[in-house]
Amino acid sequence: MADFKQEIARRRTFAIISHPDAGKTTITEKILFHGGVIREAGEVKGKSGTKAATSDWMTMEKERGVSITSSVMQFDYSGLRINLLDTPGHKDFGEDTYRTLVAADSAAMLIDAAKGVEKQTRKLFEVCKKRQLPIFTFANKMDREGKDPLELIDDVESTLGIRCYPVTWPIGMGDRFVGLYHRLEKKVYKYTKGQVAAEILEVSGWDDPVIESLTEKELYDKFCEDMELLDVALGPFEEAEFRSGMLSPMSFGSAKNNWGVDLFMEQFRMWAPGPGIYQADDLSPVDPNEKSFAGFVFKIQANMDKRHRDRVAFLRVCSGQFERGMKVKHQRLGRDLRLSYANQFQAHERDTVDTAYAGDIVGIVDTGNFQIGDTITDGKTLKFSNMPRFAPELFARLSIKDPLKKKQLQKGIRQLAEEGAIQLFIDPIVGEQEPIVGVVGELQFEVLLYRLNDEYRLDVRLERLPFSVARWPRKKESGEPLPLNDGLNGGAKIYSDSRDNMVVLLAREWDQGWLEKENPDVEFHTTAGL
Ligand code: G4P
Repeated sequence: MADFKQEIARRRTFAIISHPDAGKTTITEKILFHGGVIREAGEVKGKSGTKAATSDWMTMEKERGVSITSSVMQFDYSGLRINLLDTPGHKDFGEDTYRTLVAADSAAMLIDAAKGVEKQTRKLFEVCKKRQLPIFTFANKMDREGKDPLELIDDVESTLGIRCYPVTWPIGMGDRFVGLYHRLEKKVYKYTKGQVAAEILEVSGWDDPVIESLTEKELYDKFCEDMELLDVALGPFEEAEFRSGMLSPMSFGSAKNNWGVDLFMEQFRMWAPGPGIYQADDLSPVDPNEKSFAGFVFKIQANMDKRHRDRVAFLRVCSGQFERGMKVKHQRLGRDLRLSYANQFQAHERDTVDTAYAGDIVGIVDTGNFQIGDTITDGKTLKFSNMPRFAPELFARLSIKDPLKKKQLQKGIRQLAEEGAIQLFIDPIVGEQEPIVGVVGELQFEVLLYRLNDEYRLDVRLERLPFSVARWPRKKESGEPLPLNDGLNGGAKIYSDSRDNMVVLLAREWDQGWLEKENPDVEFHTTAGL
């Protein structure tokens, strides 16, 4: 039997954060290639007639070539068992993307070297920062002319407020890219287009004449200038700073050409932390090495595979060991469940899992028992409420012509709300017949209509509403939610959410000031909390 502690110690669970088009799909396939999951780099990206993208589960994703729902892939690399969480990269993305980061122990931030830190990366980074997740940075597309690497560092440091530590440094870029100088190993990795492996040159340091012979004078002078500056201006690598998410090891390369991806993987192997400690609601730390099993659901997805017609709850194992068929205590429902069907995911396959350890992500086939944020344990009472909800910014009312299908619409919307795909609001006058949905990104509406049609056979009309803000009122003194029938001064329109909490929907954030003035005993929260 595998040693329990050793198994946990070799787990590494991470996510890649990036702005669309920075190259996340491309680098994912190169990482899977280095992990031996795919034999040929290029197998992943689904273009018509080729294999579908590894992480694409839904037809719509395949049709559009974008990754809408996050999934997870598990593979071995250099003795480590890696869980790579996929965060949807489309410009309009949902809460799913953010929540995935709650299940990761570190993140890799991928930036397009020509564009620097872009909007979506910034948003995702904020979630990482809140969790103090250690972050690696990879500047991609060095085969093209991009920003000066020093400018990139400045961009990351000033936009995100963290310190960068360049582990590698490019010698040239674009057509004049020669390779990478590894500052810690004192080696040059020389890359040539179309060649899988780098040519490795041992050097005495960045000022070794060998490097001078590799490139033209102008580039070499610039390289030396940069290296001198890095040595004096950018302090050393401090592991503690990295572990608290304040210092990011930075590397350069090209995902498309497979340049520097191996070096990034090596840094990941050296520094990526194993399963971290999660804090339970009662503030007690849950150590991954504790024997007793505990985990939480961070994502629910229905109909991942038409052949299976099921719903999968993604569980992050926080401590102990998960066994297929084990009896667990569902903390919210307060009862025992037997988890007979559980999967782990690898490339296009899903494998039945017999044993999983802290750090692993397990997909549990669910018949409706789970909601996002649910905690399960092997018996002891424990709850994690670390699952953030994000304030929706776009709202729409849904309706359906056929009166016989209204019940079906309610059911579909309830399920999708439980999955976390949307947030549900009910107008007390109209009722659930015409539900209101709130989302974080525009694409969620499109996905919603598609799924209602595809999975529930519903042809739904979506009418946009002029709100951009949802607020959950709570009593200032006790912090308790306001009862639904209490009402508010100031003419606010009151709705309820899927858990019967009072919500007000406002056109502008500015309107909140007015409500606060009119209701001095009430606080307005951006989320309901779980
Ligand atoms: P995403 O998942 O982050 O959205 O990005 P994706 O990997 O799909 O890459 C977006 C585009 O950037 C793709 O081009 C991809 O080939 C290109 N790309 C990725 N890495 C590099 C790199 O290192 N250098 C260069 N020059 N390009 C890179 P596309 O035209 O949309 O698709 P394709 O026809 O090239 O596959």
